[in-house]
Amino acid sequence: MKRRTFVQTVGGGAALSTLTSPAVLLANQGGPTMYDAGVYLEGNFGPVAEEITATDLPVIGALPPELNGRYLRNGPNPLGPVDPARHHWFSGEGMVHGVRLSEGRAQWYRNRYVRTEDIVAALGEDPAGRRFAGSANTHVIGLGEHTFAIVEAGSPPVELSYELDTIGANNFFGTLPDMAFTAHPKVDPDTGDLHAMAYSWPGFLDHVQYVHVGRDGRVKQTLDVPVPGMVMMHDMSLTGRYVVIYDLPVTISGDLINQGMRFPFAWNPDYEPRVGLLPRGGTAADIRWITVAPCYVFHPMNAYDDEDGNVVVDVCRYDRMFVADHNGPFRDSLATLRRWTLNPVSGGFSETVIDDRPQEFPRCHPMLNSKPYRYGYSVAVAGGGSEFPAINKQDLVTGTTAVFDLGPGRHSGEPYFVPRQGASSEDDGYLLSFVYDGERDASELVVLDARDPARAPLARVMLPARVPYGFHGSWVPDGWDGPSV
Ligand SMILES: [Fe+2]
Repeated sequence: MKRRTFVQTVGGGAALSTLTSPAVLLANQGGPTMYDAGVYLEGNFGPVAEEITATDLPVIGALPPELNGRYLRNGPNPLGPVDPARHHWFSGEGMVHGVRLSEGRAQWYRNRYVRTEDIVAALGEDPAGRRFAGSANTHVIGLGEHTFAIVEAGSPPVELSYELDTIGANNFFGTLPDMAFTAHPKVDPDTGDLHAMAYSWPGFLDHVQYVHVGRDGRVKQTLDVPVPGMVMMHDMSLTGRYVVIYDLPVTISGDLINQGMRFPFAWNPDYEPRVGLLPRGGTAADIRWITVAPCYVFHPMNAYDDEDGNVVVDVCRYDRMFVADHNGPFRDSLATLRRWTLNPVSGGFSETVIDDRPQEFPRCHPMLNSKPYRYGYSVAVAGGGSEFPAINKQDLVTGTTAVFDLGPGRHSGEPYFVPRQGASSEDDGYLLSFVYDGERDASELVVLDARDPARAPLARVMLPARVPYGFHGSWVPDGWDGPSV
């Protein structure tokens, strides 16, 4: 096993090998927020100090031999100096963690910073020949033979090698005109095209942008969509007929900019919350805007057109976001799973509760994105947003939830559904997730049978280090020429 260790600094001064007590440091610095960023730097939110290459990993159980490819996941791993008062969980430098599976074996684990100019300088590397962009820390996807780390707010994709080394910024081979993309493109399973809503700070003052990327990774179309303010638009939804635009009341904050906050977006009570239905192939003038109750949504589980012509979206919905807490997403409210039904003709809107337990990182069968579906998967959120103790399987037909409790001190990331070859039902497949084990202070790649996730895992790939809580990932099969998102 090869390790490369970094020295991380906190508060612009003291050098630490690990970030263990930023809240103490905060006491000496003061800060502009009601909260400190401690929870988002401590425990398994905190960064790891090494890039590791480990091969032939131990496996408990049996890996399905049909899983040949890489499970990849992106997330923040701050590389100092970090000012805890001004830090935001979303602003840490990106690090991609990956496990390669092949014919029932776990061939390797790698974690690599997504290089920016600053990271290369901090690590003393030669920047020659590479084009850099901002920190791409939110998602990692496959597009044919290419691997991209992606992020929102005005930074282009960053291409990685198969082994996760940074190749450099790649604006979809020169076709992304304004360099702004998103961490949450949606795949049209019928075409393999990507559909996305991008915002850019400070690039787009008065609009967001719909971006349509072909299966070949080249942009086919962009469409500017006027909005009343500089809104944080994290995700979108796709149905057979519509692009769904979440124009919700979190906007850029001059006060937070002046305070030097690294992620200066805040709740804006004066901003009208609304959802836009853009007919696919339509123009901005064709958008049907529908007012909704004040709330915030990072992630929809899925969306589709129902038989009555309504647009149905299932979302993890927060009552409030970034009101008092400007360091992370979990302390103003926690998300519960809701179903919104939107009528494009009448403008009608209704909401029902699917599951009132806190949860996040929703997923569904990738080939049913934008289509009616039965099963969704998410992570349970507990401890005021500091714990992720279970994986949920939502049966949206029966209205029941199966909960796989991971056990004491164990916490999951986003569960990624991979259909089994020759699957006989929608849930016939595998759930892949990095699970952190507090007792071992290390993580594992867990493979569950999605038909019965409450059963013992099919396989546990034991990693030599922990994978910090992060954001989103993909299963990227070897030899697949389409998108893995
Ligand atoms: Fe996200």
